[in-house]
Amino acid sequence: MMTKTALVTGAASGLGYELAFLLIKDGFDLILVDKDAPKLKEVKQLFKEFKNEVKLLTKDLSKPNIAQEIYDEVKLPIDVLVNNAGFGLFGTFANTDWKRESDMLHLHVLTTTHLTKLVLPEMISRKSGRILNISSLAAFQPGPLMSMYYASKSYILSFSEAIANELKGTGVTVTALCPGPTKTLFQETVSSDCSENKISFNMACPVAVALYGYNAMKKGKTVAIPGAFNKFLSTIPRFVPRNMATRIVRNIQEKNRGE
Ligand SMILES: NC(=O)c1ccc[n+]([C@@H]2O[C@H](COP(=O)([O-])OP(=O)(O)OC[C@H]3O[C@@H](n4cnc5c(N)ncnc54)[C@H](OP(=O)(O)O)[C@@H]3O)[C@@H](O)[C@H]2O)c1
Repeated sequence: MMTKTALVTGAASGLGYELAFLLIKDGFDLILVDKDAPKLKEVKQLFKEFKNEVKLLTKDLSKPNIAQEIYDEVKLPIDVLVNNAGFGLFGTFANTDWKRESDMLHLHVLTTTHLTKLVLPEMISRKSGRILNISSLAAFQPGPLMSMYYASKSYILSFSEAIANELKGTGVTVTALCPGPTKTLFQETVSSDCSENKISFNMACPVAVALYGYNAMKKGKTVAIPGAFNKFLSTIPRFVPRNMATRIVRNIQEKNRGE
């Protein structure tokens, strides 16, 4: 039987690394994409015990047309695509750095969408394929002080749910994983002024979050929210006025990362 191939973005650390580990343990060959070349090499070293092939691609996924470049370089049918790479940015929109924000939009929105578009036709013709898009609990309501992050994660959730519906019956599934706060490097890079979260009681472990998302992807579940408390939080915007949900998020963000 031919070995299946999984492509994981942002695989050098955090959830991407944990998802790559689960995939290789399950017998997949891996294509690992990240902009951090030394860390990618460390990951390959850590996966040495497995016989499967691990190909590394050092790419900045916020660059224009990068999805096409990767697809052309890979030249292999992709059985599992994990659109995981991402980062956050804290601050009022009027003051945040546009370069960082346009990079984020490119990475979260365009690259995720384009990679999905490129792998889908072959998956549909093989009648099998799994796509796992990493969204966030942030997707369920607007997020003052991290406005672009919340909006881009809403895009990923909405896009994933819509195409999951279109793909019913094709053998291809799309899953949006929506983690709450998770202990990875992500939390340290959101704000240059405050590397420590002040609210830490609901901080999940990346191993558990990745496993939850991985199992949901295998089952072909459309939306996966790890943790009972996070599931509850995701429903709040349905029961309170939208402007109140927005104010609650602002309060949390101010307490968590504000001065
Ligand atoms: N951690 C959380 O609390 C949390 C909660 C909800 C959702 N998420 C989502 O989970 C996903 C994974 O994040 P994580 O928590 O595992 O964070 P992480 O540990 O910082 O991992 C993200 C990885 O993506 C890479 N990356 C970032 N920008 C890239 C780019 N332009 N091109 C290529 N690679 C890039 C990073 O490389 P560098 O280290 O070189 O930047 C890093 O290796 C993200 O989409 C994030 O939004 C995280």
